[in-house]
Amino acid sequence: MTATAPETAAMSRALELALRGPRAGVNPQVGCVLLDPDGRVLAEGWHRGAGTAHAEVDALSRLADPAAAAGATAVVTLEPCNHHGRTGPCSEALIAAGVSRVLYAVPDPGVASAGGGERMRAAGLDVESGLLRDEAEEAIRPWLTALRLGRPFVTVKWASSLDGRAAAADGSSRWITGPAARDDVHRRRGEHDAIVVGTGTVLADDPALTARSGDGLLEHQPIPVVIGTTPVPVDAAVRHHPHPLRVHATHDLGAVLASLFDDGVRSVFVEGGPTLASAFLRAGLVDEVVAYLAPTLLGGPITALGDLDVSTIDEQRRLRFTSVDLVGDDVRLVARPLASDTDPSARDGRTSPATISTSSGVTAATDSTTTTKEL
Ligand SMILES: NC(=O)c1ccc[n+]([C@@H]2O[C@H](COP(=O)([O-])OP(=O)(O)OC[C@H]3O[C@@H](n4cnc5c(N)ncnc54)[C@H](OP(=O)(O)O)[C@@H]3O)[C@@H](O)[C@H]2O)c1
Repeated sequence: MTATAPETAAMSRALELALRGPRAGVNPQVGCVLLDPDGRVLAEGWHRGAGTAHAEVDALSRLADPAAAAGATAVVTLEPCNHHGRTGPCSEALIAAGVSRVLYAVPDPGVASAGGGERMRAAGLDVESGLLRDEAEEAIRPWLTALRLGRPFVTVKWASSLDGRAAAADGSSRWITGPAARDDVHRRRGEHDAIVVGTGTVLADDPALTARSGDGLLEHQPIPVVIGTTPVPVDAAVRHHPHPLRVHATHDLGAVLASLFDDGVRSVFVEGGPTLASAFLRAGLVDEVVAYLAPTLLGGPITALGDLDVSTIDEQRRLRFTSVDLVGDDVRLVARPLASDTDPSARDGRTSPATISTSSGVTAATDSTTTTKEL
């Protein structure tokens, strides 16, 4: 793959633009930058969600002079699509506009949508792929994982005391973590398509399963899903969610995920409790763990996880930290199962550095709602 400095800079910019689109939803976040033959930026675009223009078409529509696309280079984070969905194929749009070179970061894994690269090559365009591929894969990892595995990307979240308890001995767990960590959880809920709990959590906590901020409900609400055979009480708070409640009266988690995927769900946020979280981990259906560790001690029998089918140390389920941050007074740890086939950095035995702050200092900050400090 050969790319000029302006093309590499354009891909970095396209990645930034991609993240302006919604993280949840059936479509991926995609960004596009159009360059003139001298490497100057002609226009930028990004995808704003299902049913709206794709990034390439959005960028083309923003050209001051549509004729400027002739001989231009399109730098796109995902292979331009090749199918007639709710919008036309982007490969055709780029060909029709007269673009002569296309660089994309990640091949489209979609059965129906892939093949845009080949289509454009056949039309005589100079097409290359792989520029900043790891960064681009990381940015849309949940969507790529869902497409590759045919099931939603699964994040398991829990909050625990420093001694690993998810609740006090009487089952009460509100609140273990502080307001900043809880806000962080709500923001993450709003980035997922569905939020999942077991019947035990519904009965113990009566959660609303909405994504909220101090201003009320967030714009995007995940679908509430309860798994288990015990009936959800008629007056349960989750029945007042903006979306109808989905109840799966089963313990077959693979079947639940398959059913959710068929209905367009690409990411789920599993919020407990310990029994359900452990069942997802035992089944090997977890792509990411987000654990909030509070500086408090509870002791007692209710641990953050239960049985994981680990009877001896050789069977331990190792993970890799991808970030460790202080959120308010709590620590947020994000980790991935080792050798995950959904982790781009695990490909070819490579590892990417975690965003981890250690006693030796700060390595990186994450976002405006959190601070990365010395632990
Ligand atoms: N700290 C935290 O982050 C956090 C989060 C949530 C909850 N909690 C606390 O956790 C406690 C509740 O824990 P919990 O473990 O009872 O709740 P849970 O994991 O939400 O629910 C357990 C129930 O899920 C159902 N289930 C569905 N699929 C299953 C599977 N594959 N394997 C086994 N069970 C499956 C079973 O219900 P059926 O018998 O109905 O089939 C099971 O009894 C409460 O004290 C709550 O406050 C803490």
